[in-house]
Amino acid sequence: MEIRRYTLDDQPASYRLSLEAFGSHPGPPPPAPTELPQGRDVWLALDGDELVARAAAHSYESWFHGRRVPTAGIASVAVAPERRGGGLLLPVFRAMLDAAAERGEALSTLFPTANGIYRPLGYELVSSFDTVVVPTAELAGVRAPVATRTRRARLDDVPALKAVYDVWAAAQNGPLTRTGPRFAATDQELLDDVTAISLAVDADDRVVGYAMWDRGEGYDPTTASLEVHDLVAVTVDGYRALWRMLGTHTSVAGRIRLHTSGEDPARLVLPTATWDVVGRHPYMLRVSDPAAALTDLRADGLRAEVGLTVAGDPLGTADGSYRLVLGDGPSRCERDAAADDRPTFTPQGLALAYAGAQSCANLRMSGHLTGPDTADGVLDALLGARPIHIRDYF
Ligand SMILES: CC(C)(COP(=O)(O)OP(=O)(O)OC[C@H]1O[C@@H](n2cnc3c(N)ncnc32)[C@H](O)[C@@H]1OP(=O)(O)O)[C@@H](O)C(=O)NCCC(=O)NCCS
Repeated sequence: MEIRRYTLDDQPASYRLSLEAFGSHPGPPPPAPTELPQGRDVWLALDGDELVARAAAHSYESWFHGRRVPTAGIASVAVAPERRGGGLLLPVFRAMLDAAAERGEALSTLFPTANGIYRPLGYELVSSFDTVVVPTAELAGVRAPVATRTRRARLDDVPALKAVYDVWAAAQNGPLTRTGPRFAATDQELLDDVTAISLAVDADDRVVGYAMWDRGEGYDPTTASLEVHDLVAVTVDGYRALWRMLGTHTSVAGRIRLHTSGEDPARLVLPTATWDVVGRHPYMLRVSDPAAALTDLRADGLRAEVGLTVAGDPLGTADGSYRLVLGDGPSRCERDAAADDRPTFTPQGLALAYAGAQSCANLRMSGHLTGPDTADGVLDALLGARPIHIRDYF
């Protein structure tokens, strides 16, 4: 079996494998690419001339613990139907994540079609990218903001709305930084991608929130809905102003379909309980390089030295002993000599802890953390300080 990078000559076979795995899209097939995509590293398994497996890694950065962490976002994973169950994913992932490590990508994430595919590769479920529906009429009940109004975003507002996203995202675990070749290259492209971007601005016309939305088809309120791709604010009145603006569509679009995740702070100003999850893409995380991932984290007020072990990584890269030092600035973490009697994480347990998705106590109950519990409080305080949110599907 040959494991190697995709070349343009592989396009026809790669496209066919994709069709077989994920089905066809409406419309004609896309034109054959004339150059390799930027920021997307595609790996193949070939048996002689036959393409039998494929996976791609997108180079992203994610916000975790107040820091941008280089992340390999995995997509387009497929094995030829006749070759499934043959263990082909392990060598493909090994090569793909080795290349990601060379680019400094300490984390890897993906949206699984089934969790069981990726658990044996050290990934665990930490969140999901959701679509929720809120009846438009209920938004009239949102309390009016005091000195915040909405207005349409112009080209010169785009840096300010990106700054709002950055402030919001830096306070969460998980959101992508939305930088790099996989995202809109220009501010104009960002504006052109949607029907409109509405801003919430304060009394000084400072941008404090925005909603990026598509109006959708028709104006029968019983069937039409308005799609909100991003609803982000850094003040409570920002959320109020944007929800109320969305609520003005009640006569022509009966539902707001919001792309969201986790415990969305946008929900805190809704007077009604309706928040119907109608779509969910689970999200899994793998910590490939614990020392790099645990370095430079904001560790405000924490002062401790914690020895920890990771064991059981099928790809081997995470296994080992580490010393995590907190105090006097950002965290530091290095590999050190193996020692007995340390808290020991499974790779999946480390992913859950790192994301702030589960406490040490829950990891112990589920068998993902064993050994002494004296550092559990410190680890929970360091890793559990931010909620997890996923706002981009790939
Ligand atoms: C998903 C897919 C890539 C798995 O291929 P495969 O050849 O079965 O993979 P492997 O043999 O390397 O198996 C890897 C692990 O995944 C598990 N697995 C495979 N398919 C699974 C499924 N549908 N549900 C749960 N676990 C699954 C296997 O049991 C194995 O775990 P194990 O080592 O504990 O036994 C293949 O079935 C496929 O191409 N499906 C269609 C496209 C798709 O769903 N891609 C994934 C996109 S996220």
